[in-house]
Amino acid sequence: MKVLTIIGARPQFIKAAPVSRELRRHAHEVLVHSGQHYDAAMSDVFFEELEIPRPDYHLGIGSKSHGEQTGEMLARVERVLIEEKPDWVMVYGDTNTTLAGALAAAKLDIPVAHVEAGLRSFNRKMPEEINRVLTDHVSRLLFCPTDTAVSHLQREGITAGVYQVGDVMVDALLHNRQLAQQSSRVLDQFNLVPKGYILATWHRAENTDDPARLASIAAALNALQQPTVLPLHPRTRQRLEQASLKLDNPQLHLLTPVGYLDMLQLEANASLILTDSGGVQKEAFLLQVPCVTMRDETEWTETVEQGANRLVGADSQAILQAVEEINVDFNRVQPVFGDGRASKRIIETLTQQI
Ligand code: UD1
Ligand code: UDP
Repeated sequence: MKVLTIIGARPQFIKAAPVSRELRRHAHEVLVHSGQHYDAAMSDVFFEELEIPRPDYHLGIGSKSHGEQTGEMLARVERVLIEEKPDWVMVYGDTNTTLAGALAAAKLDIPVAHVEAGLRSFNRKMPEEINRVLTDHVSRLLFCPTDTAVSHLQREGITAGVYQVGDVMVDALLHNRQLAQQSSRVLDQFNLVPKGYILATWHRAENTDDPARLASIAAALNALQQPTVLPLHPRTRQRLEQASLKLDNPQLHLLTPVGYLDMLQLEANASLILTDSGGVQKEAFLLQVPCVTMRDETEWTETVEQGANRLVGADSQAILQAVEEINVDFNRVQPVFGDGRASKRIIETLTQQI
């Protein structure tokens, strides 16, 4: 069986790593990198740390408007698919790379397997929501991380080919947690005391491209009283510069994006995580660190329902208040994201298809 995997953005490297490892034990994988993320700190570092094989094709698409980026990927992926004639195409998550890969395959009648299917924020203004909904509707196999995701698909009439396998990010985390503890020097590097700092991440389009939300989050970060580490996504760095906004709180350690092992170490030892990332909300939950999420809604509703995550939007006062108030009893929190064997289930199901 020949399976063509298409990835291109930071969280997809992390999700694909455990699945790809398992896949290569049972089938032939052709790996395509769209080039959506291209800085070494957004791409190469994950291939090295997670031992992801070198892509067979690097499309080098880079940063563009949504239409141009997705359109160029669609055309380039189509050419690769015609040449490689895979039995299946695998896509991950909800980026423009996900949609372009799924659409190119579906139009050539090549079956698509979607990992992290069924997620919904119910906010159609998010580019990711459009990408998820469309990808799910052209996929033949839909690998859901949770029961909630399965029920979202059911409501949209998608029941065939749906499997609740658990979350592949649990697989990645369990595989790398010990290695991160042993090899990461990030705490010493920045003089951080375990449980003595906040970890923040910030990149979501709605929080960077809306000037009011950008300024409000910057104000909150500038007012934080505790030591705070912020590995900043290049998108946010650019938007702050364009708006002439400065992050000048002496408590703030502003970093370039860090690798996955340093990130796991920073997350596990934080007293609190402040984020607008999807993956980071989940990792906070898994590592039992209270999370404050700077969004108006989340796809990972289970983390909020269980009291481990608070949604605060982008209002600076609301952010600061939640940071002060949040208190989570992790003894009462139930696991919902699976047992770390999602990749195995995905590959078992996929390889039974022919
Ligand atoms: C993308 C995904 C988002 C995901 C995020 C993970 C879409 C629509 N969005 O958002 O769902 O949460 O990746 O990180 O697919 N840039 C660089 N260097 C890079 C990559 C990006 O400087 O290596 C800058 C460019 O100015 C670019 C901007 O970041 O225009 C945004 O990059 P893009 O890939 O379009 O979206 P993300 O915000 O990264
Ligand atoms: N991540 C990382 N370094 C960073 C920021 C994030 O390794 O500087 C990891 C994080 O641990 C998680 C994934 O990247 O596994 C989340 O990606 P991101 O926040 O870019 O995207 P999202 O999950 O919101 O789509």
